[in-house]
Amino acid sequence: MRSVLIAACAVAAGLSLTSFAAAEELNATQQLGRQLFGQSCAVCHLKQQLGAATYGPSLSQASLGGQEDVMREVIANGTPRMPAFKYHFEPAQIDAIVRYLKTVPPQ
Ligand code: HEC
Repeated sequence: MRSVLIAACAVAAGLSLTSFAAAEELNATQQLGRQLFGQSCAVCHLKQQLGAATYGPSLSQASLGGQEDVMREVIANGTPRMPAFKYHFEPAQIDAIVRYLKTVPPQ
């Protein structure tokens, strides 16, 4: 039932999450990270169904050389083209997103 709800939400959001790990395989922290990613990051980092190019690169466990510290740093402080999230998220939330990204296989 829960997976049906998650699938319905993904469809409602118009996102293609098929290449991402099934929610059932994620622990609670990783699921939180997946949810936050869907809300705040997918708009730039996930391919939309209409096939438009993404604004940011696709992300995976191998992004930034797979270095979790660097991932946290980029998410917290942003880049010239990406907003900083340190005022938006608690450190624990940024950590949850990094833990989720570490479950995503490289494309
Ligand atoms: C407004 C669009 C936008 C949003 C929203 C956004 N990003 Fe980004 N992100 C980018 C762009 C563009 C880059 C490429 C870096 C650059 O050119 O400055 C990037 C780069 C990254 C990188 C480094 C990837 C690499 O291989 O160099 C990570 C990690 C990352 N973003 C994570 C996130 C996370 C996590 C979120 C949500 C909390 C997020 N981003 C939200 C646009 C965005």
